[in-house]
Amino acid sequence: MNKPSFDFGMIGLGVMGRNLLLNMADHHFAVIGFDNDKTKGATLESAASPGTLVKAAGTLGEMVEYLKTPRKLMLLVPAGPIVDDVINDLLPLLSNGDIVIDGGNSHYTDTIRRINFLQDKGVHFMGMGVSGGEEGARKGPSIMPGGDVLAWQQVKPILESVAAKVNLPAGQGGGEPCVAYMGKAAAGHYVKMVHNGIEYAVMQLISEVYDLLKHAVGLNNDELYVLFKKWNEGEMQSFLIEITRDIFLKEDDITKNRLIDMILDKAGSKGTGKWTSQDAMELPVPVPTIDIAVAMRDLSVFKEERIAAAALYKPKIKPITSHKEKFIQQLHDSLYCASIICYAQGLAMLHKASAALKMDIPLQDVVRIWRGGCIIRSSLLEIFTAAYKKDKQLVNILLNKKVASLIKKKQAALRKVVQQGSAVKIPVGGLMSSLAYLDAYCSDRMPTNLIQAQRDYFGAHTYQRIDKEGNFHTEWNA
Ligand code: 6PG
Repeated sequence: MNKPSFDFGMIGLGVMGRNLLLNMADHHFAVIGFDNDKTKGATLESAASPGTLVKAAGTLGEMVEYLKTPRKLMLLVPAGPIVDDVINDLLPLLSNGDIVIDGGNSHYTDTIRRINFLQDKGVHFMGMGVSGGEEGARKGPSIMPGGDVLAWQQVKPILESVAAKVNLPAGQGGGEPCVAYMGKAAAGHYVKMVHNGIEYAVMQLISEVYDLLKHAVGLNNDELYVLFKKWNEGEMQSFLIEITRDIFLKEDDITKNRLIDMILDKAGSKGTGKWTSQDAMELPVPVPTIDIAVAMRDLSVFKEERIAAAALYKPKIKPITSHKEKFIQQLHDSLYCASIICYAQGLAMLHKASAALKMDIPLQDVVRIWRGGCIIRSSLLEIFTAAYKKDKQLVNILLNKKVASLIKKKQAALRKVVQQGSAVKIPVGGLMSSLAYLDAYCSDRMPTNLIQAQRDYFGAHTYQRIDKEGNFHTEWNA
């Protein structure tokens, strides 16, 4: 091919970078990729569909030379200093007006720093969240770009063609692409961070329900499969329920047991959940189910201590012996209810961050593009999309009437499950904190008057009164 004739360049040909590039090629874009590891370039070329234009460049310089101007490039490399290293290598090769997209899970403060740095050099820099894992990247992810609007306009046709599509008109193809402009500055990475926070929280809830179903109700993996299959066919349809269903059937190649029973109970993380909690406290805005999800992953890693504590305290799980069917229905309803509360926390955080960090995040578009492709896609997102269509400035999804009616129907089950969980000694921190958030959020009378009094008592921090404006102090000991 003549130079320059490629539409899009990718730096980092790991599975995500390669799959996204192949997805673009399948949509008739000529694409070129570069990776320091040459075997990855070879894998890219050999995986290309026949008739598509896919090339692996030998050097970064070669890749830049082959791109049409203004150049459109994406980095899909591990978040952190590597992103800065690649930008520094790239910079002398770029021209005014070129567009560089960071498609990894970078922290939004790094993205702001990079936008400012590159703006001075005439290069458009965009932070963009990409969700959907390997398969999503290949077949259609949910894409969350933010920052430079002019750059967004230029990459929009490519991103729209590769994104997941929802609500496909019968027999006509097409459908609504799961990509939209997420707002100014580092909004793309901010939205993706909160997406991951919700992901952590919902995964935590599902794991608690699994614990109860397995150890309190006594379901085996086949029964769990059947139950999650049924749940996924109803109002709780979601990607996470769907993959959980399939996990229960997977056989271990080594022992021929079910793989789930051979996996160690220690969950790692790459940090986006922790960032969501940290940044929520920074705002501040409460996201307690996300906090507990991070804490439970952290606690899981203390395996030796947990073994020692179990030997000391000898907790005995008491199985449930009667009304099992009723309890299973309550578990369904409590998972549904608590999941709504997780989304409510994450979306309320985005609402507050949007104003505090001047990002102008369009929440109606956030929930719209989360309906397909991403890890937290769920039938709930249709309900949230309708809610934000009605009121773009909705501060918390729990204030929407339709959502409130769903919560009212299911909250009794959540209460029962939380009681039952503590009675049978199975930790249900995610479910509990969702319920506590709901009860506190829906309360016009919290006990924080006492906290005000205590602070004033020991530290003269003053308090406000219910009957007059102003700050007051009392000599409590006098
Ligand atoms: C996605 C995922 C993806 C990644 C998570 C995993 O939306 O496709 O969120 O970004 O799998 O970052 O995060 P942890 O390793 O922290 O669980």
